[in-house]
Amino acid sequence: MPTLMQSDIGLIGLAVMGQNLALNIADHGFAISVYNRTTAKTDEFVKDNPNTPGKLTGCPTMKDFAASLKKPRKAIILVKAGGPTDAVINELVAVFEPGDIIIDGGNALWTDTIRREKELKAKGLRFIGSGVSGGEEGARFGPSLMPGGDPAAWAELKPVWEAVASKVDAQTGVELTGAKPGKPIKGGVPCVAHIGPDGAGHYVKMVHNGIEYGDMQMICEAYDLMRGLLGMTPDEIGTVFETWNQGDLNSFLIEITAKVLKQKDPETGKPLVDVILDTAGQKGTGKWTSANALDMGVAAPTIAEAVFARCLSAVKEERVAAAKALRGPKRAMTNPDRAKVVAMIRDALYCSKICSYAQGFQLMREAQNEYKWKLNFGEIAQIWRGGCIIRARFLQKITEAFAKKPRLANLLLDPYFKKTVKKAQKNWRKVLALAVKHGIPTPCLGSALSYFDSYRTESLPQNLLQGQRDFFGAHTYERVDKPRGEFYHIDWPDPKRPQIKA
Ligand code: 6PG
Repeated sequence: MPTLMQSDIGLIGLAVMGQNLALNIADHGFAISVYNRTTAKTDEFVKDNPNTPGKLTGCPTMKDFAASLKKPRKAIILVKAGGPTDAVINELVAVFEPGDIIIDGGNALWTDTIRREKELKAKGLRFIGSGVSGGEEGARFGPSLMPGGDPAAWAELKPVWEAVASKVDAQTGVELTGAKPGKPIKGGVPCVAHIGPDGAGHYVKMVHNGIEYGDMQMICEAYDLMRGLLGMTPDEIGTVFETWNQGDLNSFLIEITAKVLKQKDPETGKPLVDVILDTAGQKGTGKWTSANALDMGVAAPTIAEAVFARCLSAVKEERVAAAKALRGPKRAMTNPDRAKVVAMIRDALYCSKICSYAQGFQLMREAQNEYKWKLNFGEIAQIWRGGCIIRARFLQKITEAFAKKPRLANLLLDPYFKKTVKKAQKNWRKVLALAVKHGIPTPCLGSALSYFDSYRTESLPQNLLQGQRDFFGAHTYERVDKPRGEFYHIDWPDPKRPQIKA
């Protein structure tokens, strides 16, 4: 080094996501330098990909890596979130110069991103925390990208990020597919937007993941209802998901669910889903979303229930023992009308999905106040239409809702969603009643209905709760006949005494 031709951008971390994103960038004609802790991996990667439209340069050391990049240097980090990201940043700090840009594409905790940006700024370096969604396939042919950070640094990264992002049709919002190695999609609207300063991009990616947790769990509950109430086989349920994928529920997660359900285990010939152990893993983004909802005092029960459902699934041995000790009703219905119940489940799924997304958007609304960001919710829905794990036809409706009313208080109040829930809620209630009757757990579908019912209820029983709080702890209450913000306390042992204004 130095190389003859310097690279437009660099990437550190050649695990699957890193390799795929590097190839995607090279497919768009950008020269890219790559670095991995193990040099053998870098060499193998470059050797295996000799004919990329943009040149791939493998770098054995960080120093070589820095020397190979055009200035201001731009380096994407795709390593494990947390400690490993900090370690790579420290290595880059040693070889980068003021004005250079570090882009973290991992699933970082947004508060880490805020901290890192501040620390790097003090050293004259610029930092972008970017959500990258879409798994391996997305990274290779078009992810949804959620960058946050200094606008001037974003302007430097923009041409690359817009080129590699997934594309959707400008009118319909439908994702443009069919990209192949060396042949990326041409035209369309890229699924990327500058989300805001410092940690905004990673925050929005975290909420995306919280919503992803909710979507996945609700789909699982729909599957369990078909299995439990109706005794349907995985293959039959797969066919139902295929049908649903043709309508309003059309989404990546519904599409892959049908495929998972139809897959046979190559070893036993049984449905693969029947040989997969029912204990879910998690890496923490759903938990972060829920913990943050609690911290900010925003109701996101459906997302939190999705996390808890994974937690309960994980205590397999305990559940096996409890299954012998605790009895419930018979799961199966007697002589059910299958088509009718399937339609009820569909409606329950769609309504619950609306509630779960409503919660995600309310979280972002609160976070922007907390962190002084100005989030564009219509744009966020827009960049989730393609490339990411939660991509769905339904996101076009959310895009339209926020386009019509950027300060919409809750998705449930948008005319389209209001009408949809109005039409479908009877079925939603009916199928949840069946779930309760037959002892089938529906933590997300059920909590979504409670959210809906709570949100639309003028008088909740928290008047009683305030009375309880005042009784045992003199925590005071507001009165319906007095202005908000005036607090009262009654002397409970002697309630005839006048109430005290706190
Ligand atoms: C994405 C995904 C991805 C996430 C996985 C696994 O947007 O591409 O959200 O970032 O890491 O879905 O998450 P869990 O292991 O927590 O399920």
